[in-house]
Amino acid sequence: MKEEKYILVTGGAGYIGSHTVVALIENNYTPIIVDDFRNAQRSVIPRLEQLTGTKLSVYDFAIHNQQQLINLFQKYAFAGVIHFAADKAVGESVVNPLKYFKNNLGGLISLLEVMTQFGKQNLVFSSSCTVYGTPDDVPVTEETPTKQPESPYGYTKLINEQMIHQVQEAHPDLNVALLRYFNPIGAHESGLIGETPQGIPNNLLPYITQTAAGKREFLTVYGNDYATPDGSCVRDYIHVMDLADAHVAALNYLSSQHVGEDVFNLGTGNGTSVLEMIGYFDEVSGLSLPFKIGHRRLGDVPEIYANTEKATSLLGWKAKRTVKEAIRNAWNYEQLMREKQ
Ligand code: UFG
Repeated sequence: MKEEKYILVTGGAGYIGSHTVVALIENNYTPIIVDDFRNAQRSVIPRLEQLTGTKLSVYDFAIHNQQQLINLFQKYAFAGVIHFAADKAVGESVVNPLKYFKNNLGGLISLLEVMTQFGKQNLVFSSSCTVYGTPDDVPVTEETPTKQPESPYGYTKLINEQMIHQVQEAHPDLNVALLRYFNPIGAHESGLIGETPQGIPNNLLPYITQTAAGKREFLTVYGNDYATPDGSCVRDYIHVMDLADAHVAALNYLSSQHVGEDVFNLGTGNGTSVLEMIGYFDEVSGLSLPFKIGHRRLGDVPEIYANTEKATSLLGWKAKRTVKEAIRNAWNYEQLMREKQ
């Protein structure tokens, strides 16, 4: 009988979490999902089961509930924990910072308290390139100094990293990979899972696909007067399935050795501007996306993209999918979702 390698996936029904569940199953891990569905759809679970041909173990509670977490740690000898469960809307965090402190800081404290009670543990943590603030130079490496992020959301990611660092020093048994995501986009190629923002999307690609689908009138490009090649902001857009694969690579890395704590940039290594994204969308969809040039958005970083050499050399991971492929998959998902509504 094969020995199960159980992985606790907090926020496993969310955007990046659900795609990672697929990658885990493909790599013979057994995900145990904890999600309270505050920002994820319940219909994701049957779709994941259809996609993977696997009956999933799903626990519906908030990670602040320590007794429920303890019960799970007693039930399963986890080979690793991937912690996605957090709030992530930058704009909302500015309006309601306490919600972000409570959920993102409180959630991690709750999880770490339980993990440190159960001895040696591997933890993969969802961080963000937001911890670099506006970098002095691009591409950013893991050595690039962190800065005060622009939003309370970003601030919680920086504090989360620092909390983990200090807890790891006090509990050397903890084995941690901090993953700094650049801009995750796209969907699984099946179109069964993808990104479904609640309300009006903040992020670029969901806004583009919803505009193309007729849900929004036009896209506003937030500024075309930056000191970038075409004046619009530049980001490192990474396919969510590449990101999912990186989590598996990080777990394998932690399982093979005790590193204490290590940090990795997860991007493609290439920058793409907002106007280039619109051009790619038109090419992939055969449509002509309606857009207007608007004012700069407060807090936007003009240009950021990753140096990903460390992830390649230590995790043996590299982004394989193109930005156009991600756009095609996101557009396919948007259209399939529309048919179901
Ligand atoms: N943009 C537009 N119009 C829109 C939406 C976005 O022009 O309607 C532009 C933004 O100005 C930016 C780019 O598209 O230049 C990407 O914006 P997103 O909101 O998609 O992503 P951000 O880079 O602002 O934010 C992402 C993550 C955050 C993270 C941040 C760190 O979503 O979680 O990177 O830099 F904190």
